[in-house]
Amino acid sequence: MTLDGVHVERARAGRQRWRVPEADGTVRPVTLCMLAPATVDEASAVAEMRDAAARWLLAKGIQQWRPGEVGPDAFVARAEAGELFVVRVDGALAAAVVITFAGPVVWGSDPGDAGYLHGLVIDRRRAATGLGRAVLAEAEAHIWARDRGRARLDCVAANRRLQAYYEAAGYHPVGKQTFDPGRGWHPAGMPPS
Ligand SMILES: CC(C)(COP(=O)(O)OP(=O)(O)OC[C@H]1O[C@@H](n2cnc3c(N)ncnc32)[C@H](O)[C@@H]1OP(=O)(O)O)[C@@H](O)C(=O)NCCC(=O)NCCS
Repeated sequence: MTLDGVHVERARAGRQRWRVPEADGTVRPVTLCMLAPATVDEASAVAEMRDAAARWLLAKGIQQWRPGEVGPDAFVARAEAGELFVVRVDGALAAAVVITFAGPVVWGSDPGDAGYLHGLVIDRRRAATGLGRAVLAEAEAHIWARDRGRARLDCVAANRRLQAYYEAAGYHPVGKQTFDPGRGWHPAGMPPS
């Protein structure tokens, strides 16, 4: 099955600091959202978090991710490359995102003045607390700190809710692409390692 994807990007903006909410929605004033490089040992837990999100999406009838499509090995490779980042709260994994600076195939050969986000995911127990938005802001700050002027990612074209989410975060569409599963790429997903 092919999937139509939309490239979205946002231009560099001032850094905002976001606080990490507790699972019950309360925010402890001292807990800033800290994005940290993942260790190789965390790869399995990140894969499990993604699978849990994939099951949640499927249960909602959203065609996007499938459980098991990105296994622990892919996350190990991302961690070894320094591209896998996580948020830990009280030692527990709360969210993850892949940040790359190489020229991803799906955006063409020119990486441009951009950093690329893949596989942003939160622990579903922390949904509706704003954690994902906080992680997005921290990932962008990581991109700005590397002197890149744009943050980019891909969404499934049919998923208006997700696109609206990114538009509310300052992103706008800049292109479309049909994704062939045989290429190992997937909108709103992550590239093969
Ligand atoms: C996207 C994500 C990181 C946002 O985290 P967050 O800012 O903490 O926000 P929430 O999880 O509370 O979700 C906010 C809203 O977006 C919706 N949403 C989240 N992911 C969605 C998706 N893939 N498709 C459609 N809607 C989605 C939620 O249902 C919620 O909708 P509501 O406000 O109508 O209830 C998180 O929802 C997530 O892990 N989603 C699953 C994985 C995913 O789609 N990642 C994006 C890859 S590009």
